[in-house]
Amino acid sequence: MTEMNPATTYTDGDVDTNDTTQRSLESMAAERYSRRQALYRGAGATTMAFMGTSLLAACDDEGAEGSIGGSVTVTAGSNVATSAGRPVTLTGNVSGSGSDIGWTQQSGPTVELTGSGNVVSFIAPAVSTATDLIFQFSAKPLIGAAKTATTTVRVSPAVLGFTAVAHSLGDTVVVPEGYSITVMTRLGDPIAAGVAAYKNDGTDADFDKRIGDHHDALHFFGLSATGTPDRNTSTRGLMVQNHENITQTYLHPTGATASPRPLAEALKEMECHGVSVVEYADAGDRKWSYKQDSTFNRRITPNTPMAFNGPAAGSAYLVTAYSKDGKAGRGTINNCANGVSGWNTNLTCEENYAGYFRRDASDDAKRTIPEIDSLNRNGITSRSGSYSWSTASSTDTRFTRWNATITGATSADDFRYEPNQFGWVVEIDPYNPTSTPRKRTALGRFGHEGAFVRAVASQKVGVYMGDDSRGEYLYKFVSNATWAAADADAADRLAIGDKYLDTGTLYVARFNADGTGTWLPLVYSPTFPKRPASGSYREYTFTSQADICVNTRFAADAVGATPMDRPEWTVGNPVTGEIYLTLTNSNNSFRPVTGTNAANPRSYNDPKGPSNTAQTGNPNGHIVRLREDGDTTSATSFKWDIYLFGADSTDADPTNVNISGLTTANDFSSPDGAYFSRSTNPSGQIKPVMWIETDDGALTDRTNCMLLAAIPGTVGDGGAKTITNTNGGTGTQNTFVGAKATAANLRRFLVGPKQCEITGIDQTPDGRTLFVGIQHPGEDGTYAAPGSNWPYTQAGTPAATVRPRSALIAITKNDGGVIGL
Ligand code: FEO
Ligand code: CA
Ligand code: CA
Repeated sequence: MTEMNPATTYTDGDVDTNDTTQRSLESMAAERYSRRQALYRGAGATTMAFMGTSLLAACDDEGAEGSIGGSVTVTAGSNVATSAGRPVTLTGNVSGSGSDIGWTQQSGPTVELTGSGNVVSFIAPAVSTATDLIFQFSAKPLIGAAKTATTTVRVSPAVLGFTAVAHSLGDTVVVPEGYSITVMTRLGDPIAAGVAAYKNDGTDADFDKRIGDHHDALHFFGLSATGTPDRNTSTRGLMVQNHENITQTYLHPTGATASPRPLAEALKEMECHGVSVVEYADAGDRKWSYKQDSTFNRRITPNTPMAFNGPAAGSAYLVTAYSKDGKAGRGTINNCANGVSGWNTNLTCEENYAGYFRRDASDDAKRTIPEIDSLNRNGITSRSGSYSWSTASSTDTRFTRWNATITGATSADDFRYEPNQFGWVVEIDPYNPTSTPRKRTALGRFGHEGAFVRAVASQKVGVYMGDDSRGEYLYKFVSNATWAAADADAADRLAIGDKYLDTGTLYVARFNADGTGTWLPLVYSPTFPKRPASGSYREYTFTSQADICVNTRFAADAVGATPMDRPEWTVGNPVTGEIYLTLTNSNNSFRPVTGTNAANPRSYNDPKGPSNTAQTGNPNGHIVRLREDGDTTSATSFKWDIYLFGADSTDADPTNVNISGLTTANDFSSPDGAYFSRSTNPSGQIKPVMWIETDDGALTDRTNCMLLAAIPGTVGDGGAKTITNTNGGTGTQNTFVGAKATAANLRRFLVGPKQCEITGIDQTPDGRTLFVGIQHPGEDGTYAAPGSNWPYTQAGTPAATVRPRSALIAITKNDGGVIGL
């Protein structure tokens, strides 16, 4: 930068070479300085600013003086008003040859200015009330003090800043005006060097080096330039995504071969399950791509070696022909929602593992009654197992293990306990591609949907978990260890997992009728209650904590937990600490008019389609939320209410079904994925944005599945309500409901393509890219007649026979602002 000192020296390369100047620069500068002082002294102080321009302009009359920047005026542009999360550009103007041109912030919440010189920009910060930020633009003339001007940016609190997306039955992803999407990793995309591009005709193999199917929960783990964990970077990271299941027909040239299954087909299907870790990078301005040959890339499949930790590790429940000591595991399956620890690891959750197992009719005769009841309670009842993988080989245990029928002398000779190896929360270190994932048995075994981790200073680590089946429960695990911030960046991340996830207390929730709740401990002692006989189940007596961890559903039954309408994702508001639980739906057999409870209060009919097909029970689902007493993770009691009720706004009773007052701009059914914006950007601060994803079959006569953005209030912002249920009978149910939704605080942000589910969501720390998973587009079609052609439809009009692919998309705002605001 140019430095000026009129009293002594002045150097500037450009001017020094001007050989038309006869007088010395030093003398010119000195002369100008003295004349200006004389002029200033002759003018009244109050007129100085006003007179400045013309007075200095007069100096330019002296030929060469103008070329050395003798006169400078600056303007800073008009004051502007905006709201949190939106981009602001400041443009200053300099007339004359100024130097040291730039912007500085004078007041208000500190923002990061990007750019330099007369144009800079920033993202309006989170504020709780309208707040002025004052910026000064300045430039230095050759002589004298810098010239300055200021502008004021008035920032209002964050609002949802997009026009709601309408219902859509089309075959593209629809986002609001002003937003763009980039299709990122799709089913079959190669993630290792030398692997060929996906042909998508059913002939591809090597899925242990390709992206799997049915994209589910995802998380962006930031990477520094040197490849170390970096929570703050928004330009490079490891995308960790679950691959929950498959759409079998599209994976083979002419669909799946019937049982007995060809080994190669079964192996391909297995490897399409699991988890992928893939490096993502932004080439600038949120131009995202993935790095095929990154050494961080990894596939975790049903064949990846695992370790068991916690109370059930090494117990007889986990002994198999592969794991003779009960400590080794092989693979993970039906990975649905997720969790992210406070120490940079990923928790993947094994949900509907039960259906993959075959158990022959002859098996019951070889089992004890507790074993039979345990298998039935956990749903291991299929005679073939999903996709009949056990038929692919009679000797290769990668396949025979899917048959849980007793065939050997002891459990170390067969796979009778292989189902016990699944249904866990599995911790993965995404930054270490050779690390062995650990199954955390202290967190219990059930249809794990998600595992929201709350790690707060001076508190125990809390993990909130849903069990996704109708009539199942909400759980919480509380660590014995108190959270130590130093553990956040430890090098051995899985060892930190050992500290917080292997020893602690598992609880299950009871939602009381008075709006309170109780966490019931599932801790073994000789007096732990027996699970009483009911239905087809005999009385069950627990023998150890390992027993409780393996047979967690029975333990929760025994203590009187509240059966819920399919507990899906759990997520915490980063500001209030309140926990939200999506309850996706229930049918009439679980939620008849006589079978409601305060936390699952509706039983109704939502007619579907032109023939008004009956959908009874709670077909649209709801979202319950709770606030821990004392705002601590280790609380044993809480307050709850129902934040939102799903409904078809067009035909629902506005009083007893569409209780949240939804409209066509924000109605939804079957909430599933849920997410709060990160607290590192304005969409996750003060009143954070909540994102709700749907997996719906009840509103699909009007629209495909969707993503909504919300700005929720807090537990108790509504009130008590008595619902009159009319569904093959009439009944009343008292409950507690949140404030009604409004157009300002709940809006549809995205609608997906045909026959998809929207699931998996995260944003970059700056909030300016949102990553979303599009799962199983066209799931009801066949290879010959696909049910969707997405994602190819996003860029053109593909042939009708082009096979659809699950894929992850990156959503950006065209003006570079924070997504949703
Ligand atoms: Fe995998 Fe509960 O959805
Ligand atoms: Ca309807
Ligand atoms: Ca789900």
